[in-house]
Amino acid sequence: MSTLKPRAEDKFTFGLWTIGWLGADPFGSATRAKLDTVEAVEKLAEIGAYGMTLHDDDLFDFGSTDSQRRHEIDRLKGALAATGLKMPMITTNLFSHPVFKDGGFTSNDRDVRRFAIRKVLRNLDLASELGAETFVMWGGREGAEYDSAKNIQHALERYREAVNFLADYVIEKGYKIRFAIEPKPNEPRGDILLPTVGHALAFIETLDHPELVGVNPEVGHEQMAGLNFTAGIAQALDAGKLFHIDLNGQRGIKYDQDLVFGHGDLSNAFSLVHLLEFSNNGAPAYHGPRHFDYKPSRTEDYTGVWESAKANIRMYLLLKERAAAFEADPEVKAAKEAARLHELAQSTLNPGETHDALMASPDAASFNPDAYFNGKGFNFVRLNQLALEHLMGAR
Ligand code: GCO
Ligand code: MN
Ligand code: MN
Repeated sequence: MSTLKPRAEDKFTFGLWTIGWLGADPFGSATRAKLDTVEAVEKLAEIGAYGMTLHDDDLFDFGSTDSQRRHEIDRLKGALAATGLKMPMITTNLFSHPVFKDGGFTSNDRDVRRFAIRKVLRNLDLASELGAETFVMWGGREGAEYDSAKNIQHALERYREAVNFLADYVIEKGYKIRFAIEPKPNEPRGDILLPTVGHALAFIETLDHPELVGVNPEVGHEQMAGLNFTAGIAQALDAGKLFHIDLNGQRGIKYDQDLVFGHGDLSNAFSLVHLLEFSNNGAPAYHGPRHFDYKPSRTEDYTGVWESAKANIRMYLLLKERAAAFEADPEVKAAKEAARLHELAQSTLNPGETHDALMASPDAASFNPDAYFNGKGFNFVRLNQLALEHLMGAR
């Protein structure tokens, strides 16, 4: 079906670390051999991706010399030029090397914090060279296992200090780069700072340049905390802060599974795609990359890796097709009407209404709260049934 063929405007992107994940976990070693960067770019182009993203250390090893870095950067640029694949986002690895065992920006060790900021400054230069417009900051090691180990208020001050300093750099250099903070509640740290979309949104407002900083929410990270991802994305949109998104799948409150998009909570994935693609009066509410941050399961060989990459794209497009059908169905429109969704779009108060006017308004006398006992149901179950029937292809 033609709607299931990825197009450039779908902006499907993949982290080099996703298809390049070798399967090492805390209990076992790698199950696959290293994937070459150029091959990754070529394969992604082949399956219809729009772009690739990476960490500095995915491209060249930590501690590489200038000439080693240059060699890898030039190979990557050659492959991007040859395939037309874009690099809309890059990010910094501040979590793998032992130096970051207590974090980067918020390590208790000041020398480590200064080192971390230097690593990011260098990576901002690389972002600009590669034309990346979004710079993700996932603070995986910014946290603690013990309440006594870190003064959280001091840690947040140091986080703010780092982000302010980096924003100043981008402004000074004239780079067209915006930052996107990626929340996660835990793993690898027992508790991570800025654990949810809501925490990150509140922190952003305390920065010197909040306009340069948004969020990069990940499906699994909110769901690990038992939260509704679609609702979190709606709040990020409300705040004008959805700068980027990490799509994947998660089955409930457990370790970060990084499954294929839609292979976790499928009905929440459906409502998410509906929100992203149709909630702006039937048009998309988000225009950035649809970025897949998943891990091809450790059980798979490279045939399975590329199948799983394609599965992400196919799941998104299938969900988009189902969401479009839901949106267009006259019965759904009637059910929404019965559920009074349109009424929530109306302001609660009349234009210019005063406190006194509200208290004295005609409905103050006529409104009958008792009518809500044994009556005035909202018909939400009927609407949800219709949504699920569309999701299942039953309508
Ligand atoms: C994770 C995170 C990472 C980040 C990546 C980009 O849980 O491991 O999602 O994959 O997205 O480091 O910053
Ligand atoms: Mn994750
Ligand atoms: Mn992520």
